[in-house]
Amino acid sequence: MRTKITAAITAIGAYVPEDKLTNADLEKIVETNDEWIQTRTGIKERRILRGEGKATSDMVVPAVRALCDKRGIEPGDIEVLIVATVTPDMFFPSTANVACDKLGMKNTWGFDLLAACSGFLFALTTGASLVESGRYKRVCVVGADKMSSIIDYSDRTTCILFGDGAGAVLLEPNIDGYGVLDSILKTDGSGGKYLNMKAGGSLNPASVETVTNKMHYAYQEGQAVFKFAVTGMADVAYELMQRNNLDANDIAWLVPHQANKRIIDATARRMGLQDDKVMMNIEHYGNTTAATIPLCLWDYRKKLNKGDNIVLAAFGGGFTWGATLVKWEY
Ligand SMILES: CC(C)(COP(=O)(O)OP(=O)(O)OC[C@H]1O[C@@H](n2cnc3c(N)ncnc32)[C@H](O)[C@@H]1OP(=O)(O)O)[C@@H](O)C(=O)NCCC(=O)NCCS
Repeated sequence: MRTKITAAITAIGAYVPEDKLTNADLEKIVETNDEWIQTRTGIKERRILRGEGKATSDMVVPAVRALCDKRGIEPGDIEVLIVATVTPDMFFPSTANVACDKLGMKNTWGFDLLAACSGFLFALTTGASLVESGRYKRVCVVGADKMSSIIDYSDRTTCILFGDGAGAVLLEPNIDGYGVLDSILKTDGSGGKYLNMKAGGSLNPASVETVTNKMHYAYQEGQAVFKFAVTGMADVAYELMQRNNLDANDIAWLVPHQANKRIIDATARRMGLQDDKVMMNIEHYGNTTAATIPLCLWDYRKKLNKGDNIVLAAFGGGFTWGATLVKWEY
Protein backbone atom coordinates (compact mmCIF):
# COMPACT_ATOMS: atom_id res chain seq x y z
CA MET A 1 0.00 0.00 0.00
CA ARG A 2 1.26 3.49 -0.87
CA THR A 3 2.04 5.67 2.17
CA LYS A 4 -0.09 8.80 2.34
CA ILE A 5 2.02 11.89 1.74
CA THR A 6 1.05 15.13 3.43
CA ALA A 7 2.59 18.57 2.85
CA ALA A 8 4.32 19.76 6.00
CA ILE A 9 5.31 23.36 6.61
CA THR A 10 9.04 23.07 7.29
CA ALA A 11 10.09 26.74 7.36
CA ILE A 12 8.64 30.26 7.48
CA GLY A 13 10.09 33.52 6.17
CA ALA A 14 8.70 37.02 6.10
CA TYR A 15 9.46 40.59 5.24
CA VAL A 16 7.90 43.89 6.24
CA PRO A 17 9.19 47.27 5.05
CA GLU A 18 10.85 49.57 7.59
CA ASP A 19 8.61 52.60 7.06
CA LYS A 20 5.65 52.89 9.42
CA LEU A 21 2.37 54.70 8.78
CA THR A 22 0.81 55.32 12.17
CA ASN A 23 -2.70 56.41 13.07
CA ALA A 24 -1.20 59.78 14.03
CA ASP A 25 0.26 60.07 10.50
CA LEU A 26 -3.17 59.32 9.01
CA GLU A 27 -4.75 62.00 11.20
CA LYS A 28 -2.68 64.49 9.20
CA ILE A 29 -3.90 63.17 5.84
CA VAL A 30 -7.63 62.46 6.32
CA GLU A 31 -10.31 63.33 8.86
CA THR A 32 -9.87 60.47 11.29
CA ASN A 33 -8.46 59.79 14.73
CA ASP A 34 -6.47 57.16 16.55
CA GLU A 35 -9.32 56.31 18.90
CA TRP A 36 -11.81 55.65 16.06
CA ILE A 37 -9.34 53.50 14.14
CA GLN A 38 -8.31 51.44 17.16
CA THR A 39 -11.84 50.89 18.40
CA ARG A 40 -13.28 49.97 15.00
CA THR A 41 -10.37 47.93 13.64
CA GLY A 42 -7.66 47.25 16.25
CA ILE A 43 -4.99 48.81 14.02
CA LYS A 44 -2.28 51.17 15.35
CA GLU A 45 0.21 51.25 12.48
CA ARG A 46 1.04 49.67 9.13
CA ARG A 47 4.22 49.21 7.10
CA ILE A 48 4.62 50.92 3.74
CA LEU A 49 7.04 49.94 0.98
CA ARG A 50 8.49 53.21 -0.25
CA GLY A 51 11.04 53.97 -2.92
CA GLU A 52 11.07 54.26 -6.66
CA GLY A 53 10.90 50.94 -8.49
CA LYS A 54 9.93 48.98 -5.37
CA ALA A 55 7.21 46.41 -5.99
CA THR A 56 5.64 43.34 -4.44
CA SER A 57 8.46 41.09 -5.71
CA ASP A 58 10.87 43.16 -3.59
CA MET A 59 9.09 41.84 -0.51
CA VAL A 60 8.76 38.28 -1.90
CA VAL A 61 12.52 38.06 -2.43
CA PRO A 62 13.63 38.72 1.20
CA ALA A 63 10.78 36.54 2.54
CA VAL A 64 11.91 33.59 0.39
CA ARG A 65 15.58 34.22 1.26
CA ALA A 66 14.74 34.20 4.99
CA LEU A 67 12.87 30.93 4.59
CA CYS A 68 15.79 29.34 2.71
CA ASP A 69 18.28 30.48 5.37
CA LYS A 70 16.09 28.96 8.04
CA ARG A 71 15.89 25.63 6.21
CA GLY A 72 19.51 25.66 5.07
CA ILE A 73 18.68 25.49 1.37
CA GLU A 74 19.28 27.71 -1.65
CA PRO A 75 16.37 29.43 -3.45
CA GLY A 76 17.29 27.29 -6.47
CA ASP A 77 16.41 24.17 -4.46
CA ILE A 78 12.74 25.22 -4.56
CA GLU A 79 10.86 23.49 -7.37
CA VAL A 80 7.66 25.56 -7.43
CA LEU A 81 6.95 29.13 -6.27
CA ILE A 82 3.33 30.25 -5.85
CA VAL A 83 2.70 33.91 -5.07
CA ALA A 84 -0.74 34.90 -3.80
CA THR A 85 -1.25 38.61 -4.45
CA VAL A 86 -3.71 41.24 -5.69
CA THR A 87 -0.86 43.68 -6.28
CA PRO A 88 1.46 41.91 -8.73
CA ASP A 89 4.44 43.93 -10.01
CA MET A 90 2.68 43.85 -13.41
CA PHE A 91 -0.17 41.87 -14.95
CA PHE A 92 2.46 39.78 -16.68
CA PRO A 93 5.01 38.39 -16.29
CA SER A 94 3.82 37.02 -12.99
CA THR A 95 5.39 38.20 -9.74
CA ALA A 96 6.50 34.60 -9.22
CA ASN A 97 8.45 34.80 -12.50
CA VAL A 98 10.00 38.13 -11.51
CA ALA A 99 10.93 36.87 -8.04
CA CYS A 100 12.46 33.66 -9.44
CA ASP A 101 14.65 35.79 -11.69
CA LYS A 102 15.74 38.07 -8.84
CA LEU A 103 16.53 35.02 -6.69
CA GLY A 104 18.41 33.19 -9.43
CA MET A 105 15.94 30.29 -9.39
CA LYS A 106 16.69 28.96 -12.86
CA ASN A 107 14.89 25.63 -12.60
CA THR A 108 11.82 26.72 -10.64
CA TRP A 109 8.40 27.19 -12.22
CA GLY A 110 5.67 29.18 -10.60
CA PHE A 111 2.68 31.40 -10.94
CA ASP A 112 0.58 34.04 -9.21
CA LEU A 113 -2.75 33.22 -7.64
CA LEU A 114 -5.46 35.79 -7.06
CA ALA A 115 -7.97 35.24 -4.29
CA ALA A 116 -7.58 38.55 -2.43
CA CYS A 117 -7.39 38.14 1.35
CA SER A 118 -7.97 34.38 1.04
CA GLY A 119 -5.10 34.12 -1.44
CA PHE A 120 -2.65 32.54 0.97
CA LEU A 121 -5.08 29.76 1.92
CA PHE A 122 -6.00 29.06 -1.71
CA ALA A 123 -2.28 28.97 -2.60
CA LEU A 124 -1.43 26.80 0.40
CA THR A 125 -4.02 24.21 -0.62
CA THR A 126 -2.78 24.32 -4.22
CA GLY A 127 0.85 23.98 -3.15
CA ALA A 128 -0.01 21.17 -0.73
CA SER A 129 -1.73 19.25 -3.54
CA LEU A 130 1.45 19.41 -5.63
CA VAL A 131 3.41 17.90 -2.74
CA GLU A 132 0.73 15.31 -1.90
CA SER A 133 0.78 14.13 -5.52
CA GLY A 134 4.30 12.86 -4.88
CA ARG A 135 5.64 14.87 -7.80
CA TYR A 136 7.22 17.81 -5.96
CA LYS A 137 9.39 17.87 -2.84
CA ARG A 138 9.87 21.61 -2.25
CA VAL A 139 7.04 24.03 -2.92
CA CYS A 140 7.19 27.59 -1.62
CA VAL A 141 3.92 29.43 -1.00
CA VAL A 142 4.06 33.19 -0.55
CA GLY A 143 1.40 35.74 0.35
CA ALA A 144 2.55 39.24 -0.57
CA ASP A 145 0.86 42.55 -1.18
CA LYS A 146 1.89 46.14 -1.65
CA MET A 147 -1.58 47.44 -0.80
CA SER A 148 -0.26 51.02 -0.64
CA SER A 149 -0.03 50.88 -4.45
CA ILE A 150 -3.83 50.57 -4.84
CA ILE A 151 -5.07 52.60 -1.86
CA ASP A 152 -6.59 56.05 -2.19
CA TYR A 153 -5.04 58.01 0.67
CA SER A 154 -7.84 60.56 0.51
CA ASP A 155 -10.45 57.87 1.31
CA ARG A 156 -10.58 57.52 5.09
CA THR A 157 -12.75 54.40 4.94
CA THR A 158 -10.05 52.30 3.22
CA CYS A 159 -6.67 53.97 3.82
CA ILE A 160 -6.75 53.26 7.54
CA LEU A 161 -7.05 49.52 6.99
CA PHE A 162 -4.27 48.35 4.70
CA GLY A 163 -0.50 47.90 4.80
CA ASP A 164 2.33 46.17 2.92
CA GLY A 165 4.15 42.92 3.69
CA ALA A 166 5.06 39.38 2.63
CA GLY A 167 5.19 35.98 4.27
CA ALA A 168 6.31 32.62 2.91
CA VAL A 169 6.17 28.97 3.91
CA LEU A 170 8.02 25.95 2.56
CA LEU A 171 6.06 22.76 1.95
CA GLU A 172 7.82 19.38 1.96
CA PRO A 173 6.49 15.80 1.91
CA ASN A 174 5.77 14.09 5.22
CA ILE A 175 4.66 10.53 5.92
CA ASP A 176 3.95 10.89 9.65
CA GLY A 177 0.69 12.81 9.35
CA TYR A 178 2.02 16.35 9.80
CA GLY A 179 1.22 19.32 7.61
CA VAL A 180 -1.84 20.47 5.70
CA LEU A 181 -4.58 18.02 6.70
CA ASP A 182 -7.83 19.56 5.48
CA SER A 183 -9.21 22.68 3.80
CA ILE A 184 -12.63 24.12 3.11
CA LEU A 185 -12.43 26.86 0.49
CA LYS A 186 -15.35 28.87 -0.85
CA THR A 187 -16.14 31.59 -3.38
CA ASP A 188 -19.20 33.69 -4.13
CA GLY A 189 -18.76 36.06 -7.07
CA SER A 190 -21.98 37.90 -6.27
CA GLY A 191 -20.00 39.62 -3.49
CA GLY A 192 -17.61 41.18 -6.02
CA LYS A 193 -19.53 44.43 -6.09
CA TYR A 194 -18.68 45.18 -2.47
CA LEU A 195 -14.90 44.91 -2.70
CA ASN A 196 -12.98 45.34 -5.93
CA MET A 197 -10.63 47.35 -8.10
CA LYS A 198 -12.63 48.33 -11.14
CA ALA A 199 -10.09 49.36 -13.73
CA GLY A 200 -6.89 48.12 -15.30
CA GLY A 201 -8.36 44.81 -16.47
CA SER A 202 -10.12 43.90 -19.71
CA LEU A 203 -13.44 45.31 -18.47
CA ASN A 204 -12.15 48.84 -17.94
CA PRO A 205 -8.71 49.19 -19.51
CA ALA A 206 -6.67 52.12 -18.24
CA SER A 207 -7.79 55.44 -19.69
CA VAL A 208 -7.87 59.09 -18.69
CA GLU A 209 -11.42 58.47 -17.50
CA THR A 210 -10.51 55.49 -15.28
CA VAL A 211 -7.72 57.48 -13.68
CA THR A 212 -9.88 60.59 -13.20
CA ASN A 213 -12.62 58.49 -11.60
CA LYS A 214 -10.13 56.81 -9.24
CA MET A 215 -11.00 53.37 -10.61
CA HIS A 216 -7.47 52.01 -10.06
CA TYR A 217 -7.91 52.11 -6.29
CA ALA A 218 -9.41 49.47 -4.02
CA TYR A 219 -13.13 50.09 -3.60
CA GLN A 220 -14.93 48.78 -0.55
CA GLU A 221 -18.36 48.96 1.01
CA GLY A 222 -17.08 48.37 4.51
CA GLN A 223 -20.29 47.48 6.30
CA ALA A 224 -21.41 44.92 3.68
CA VAL A 225 -17.97 43.29 3.68
CA PHE A 226 -17.93 43.25 7.47
CA LYS A 227 -21.31 41.50 7.61
CA PHE A 228 -20.27 38.71 5.23
CA ALA A 229 -16.77 38.37 6.71
CA VAL A 230 -17.94 38.02 10.28
CA THR A 231 -20.24 35.10 9.50
CA GLY A 232 -18.24 33.61 6.60
CA MET A 233 -14.97 33.23 8.45
CA ALA A 234 -16.56 31.99 11.66
CA ASP A 235 -18.82 29.48 9.87
CA VAL A 236 -16.09 27.93 7.78
CA ALA A 237 -13.67 27.63 10.70
CA TYR A 238 -16.40 25.96 12.77
CA GLU A 239 -17.30 23.62 9.88
CA LEU A 240 -13.64 22.58 9.62
CA MET A 241 -13.55 21.79 13.35
CA GLN A 242 -16.73 19.71 13.11
CA ARG A 243 -15.56 17.82 10.04
CA ASN A 244 -12.32 16.85 11.82
CA ASN A 245 -13.96 16.06 15.18
CA LEU A 246 -12.01 18.78 16.94
CA ASP A 247 -13.18 20.85 19.87
CA ALA A 248 -11.58 23.99 21.28
CA ASN A 249 -9.29 21.93 23.55
CA ASP A 250 -7.77 20.17 20.54
CA ILE A 251 -6.76 23.41 18.86
CA ALA A 252 -3.49 25.11 19.77
CA TRP A 253 -3.88 28.20 17.58
CA LEU A 254 -6.31 30.06 15.39
CA VAL A 255 -4.42 31.99 12.71
CA PRO A 256 -7.01 34.40 11.34
CA HIS A 257 -6.73 36.79 8.44
CA GLN A 258 -6.04 40.19 10.01
CA ALA A 259 -8.72 42.48 8.55
CA ASN A 260 -10.48 43.70 11.65
CA LYS A 261 -10.10 42.73 15.29
CA ARG A 262 -13.88 42.48 15.67
CA ILE A 263 -14.07 39.85 12.87
CA ILE A 264 -11.25 37.89 14.51
CA ASP A 265 -12.95 38.00 17.92
CA ALA A 266 -16.22 36.75 16.44
CA THR A 267 -14.45 33.80 14.76
CA ALA A 268 -12.63 32.88 17.98
CA ARG A 269 -15.88 33.03 19.96
CA ARG A 270 -17.68 30.76 17.46
CA MET A 271 -14.84 28.24 17.80
CA GLY A 272 -14.93 28.48 21.59
CA LEU A 273 -11.34 29.72 21.77
CA GLN A 274 -9.91 32.07 24.38
CA ASP A 275 -7.79 35.03 23.25
CA ASP A 276 -4.55 33.28 24.27
CA LYS A 277 -5.01 30.83 21.39
CA VAL A 278 -5.57 33.50 18.75
CA MET A 279 -2.67 34.90 16.76
CA MET A 280 -3.06 38.63 16.33
CA ASN A 281 -0.67 41.23 14.95
CA ILE A 282 -3.15 43.53 13.20
CA GLU A 283 -2.14 46.42 15.46
CA HIS A 284 1.32 46.50 13.88
CA TYR A 285 0.66 45.72 10.22
CA GLY A 286 -3.02 46.35 9.47
CA ASN A 287 -4.49 44.28 6.66
CA THR A 288 -1.70 43.11 4.35
CA THR A 289 -4.21 41.08 2.28
CA ALA A 290 -2.53 37.82 1.15
CA ALA A 291 0.33 38.27 3.62
CA THR A 292 -1.55 38.38 6.93
CA ILE A 293 -1.58 34.66 7.74
CA PRO A 294 2.09 33.85 7.00
CA LEU A 295 3.07 37.10 8.77
CA CYS A 296 1.21 35.88 11.84
CA LEU A 297 2.88 32.45 11.68
CA TRP A 298 6.23 34.22 11.45
CA ASP A 299 5.51 36.55 14.38
CA TYR A 300 4.42 33.64 16.57
CA ARG A 301 6.96 31.13 15.24
CA LYS A 302 8.67 30.62 18.60
CA LYS A 303 5.36 29.65 20.20
CA LEU A 304 4.58 26.87 17.73
CA ASN A 305 5.24 23.31 18.85
CA LYS A 306 5.45 20.03 16.99
CA GLY A 307 2.02 18.40 16.84
CA ASP A 308 0.03 21.60 17.39
CA ASN A 309 -3.31 21.66 15.56
CA ILE A 310 -3.58 25.04 13.89
CA VAL A 311 -6.62 26.44 12.11
CA LEU A 312 -5.94 29.10 9.49
CA ALA A 313 -9.01 31.12 8.47
CA ALA A 314 -9.57 33.90 5.96
CA PHE A 315 -12.17 36.01 4.22
CA GLY A 316 -11.70 38.41 1.33
CA GLY A 317 -12.70 40.03 -1.92
CA GLY A 318 -14.55 37.87 -4.40
CA PHE A 319 -16.03 36.99 -2.03
CA THR A 320 -13.53 34.27 -1.15
CA TRP A 321 -13.16 32.54 2.19
CA GLY A 322 -11.89 29.39 3.79
CA ALA A 323 -10.21 27.52 6.61
CA THR A 324 -7.28 25.11 6.64
CA LEU A 325 -6.17 22.65 9.30
CA VAL A 326 -2.43 22.19 9.76
CA LYS A 327 -0.59 19.88 12.15
CA TRP A 328 2.68 21.66 12.94
CA GLU A 329 5.75 19.64 12.02
CA TYR A 330 8.66 21.20 13.96
C1 LIG B 1 -14.33 49.76 7.35
C2 LIG B 1 -14.88 49.53 8.77
C3 LIG B 1 -13.74 49.56 9.76
C4 LIG B 1 -15.83 50.67 9.12
O1 LIG B 1 -16.36 50.46 10.41
P1 LIG B 1 -17.93 50.58 10.66
O2 LIG B 1 -18.13 50.33 12.09
O3 LIG B 1 -18.62 49.68 9.67
O4 LIG B 1 -18.16 52.08 10.32
P2 LIG B 1 -19.21 52.71 9.34
O5 LIG B 1 -18.79 52.47 7.92
O6 LIG B 1 -20.56 52.29 9.76
O7 LIG B 1 -19.02 54.23 9.67
C5 LIG B 1 -19.40 54.78 10.92
C6 LIG B 1 -19.11 56.27 10.90
O8 LIG B 1 -17.69 56.47 10.94
C7 LIG B 1 -17.31 57.30 9.87
N1 LIG B 1 -15.97 56.91 9.43
C8 LIG B 1 -15.64 56.05 8.43
N2 LIG B 1 -14.30 55.96 8.35
C9 LIG B 1 -13.79 56.73 9.32
C10 LIG B 1 -12.49 57.02 9.73
N3 LIG B 1 -11.41 56.48 9.15
N4 LIG B 1 -12.33 57.85 10.80
C11 LIG B 1 -13.38 58.42 11.42
N5 LIG B 1 -14.64 58.19 11.05
C12 LIG B 1 -14.85 57.35 10.02
C13 LIG B 1 -18.35 57.09 8.81
O9 LIG B 1 -18.40 58.17 7.92
C14 LIG B 1 -19.60 56.97 9.64
O10 LIG B 1 -20.02 58.25 10.02
P3 LIG B 1 -21.58 58.61 10.11
O11 LIG B 1 -22.13 57.69 11.17
O12 LIG B 1 -21.57 60.04 10.49
O13 LIG B 1 -22.13 58.33 8.75
C15 LIG B 1 -15.65 48.20 8.87
O14 LIG B 1 -16.84 48.29 8.13
C16 LIG B 1 -14.88 47.04 8.40
O15 LIG B 1 -13.89 46.66 8.99
N6 LIG B 1 -15.35 46.37 7.32
C17 LIG B 1 -14.72 45.21 6.81
C18 LIG B 1 -13.47 45.60 6.14
C19 LIG B 1 -12.68 44.40 5.78
O16 LIG B 1 -12.52 43.52 6.56
N7 LIG B 1 -12.14 44.44 4.56
C20 LIG B 1 -11.26 43.50 4.07
C21 LIG B 1 -11.95 42.22 3.83
S1 LIG B 1 -10.79 41.05 3.73
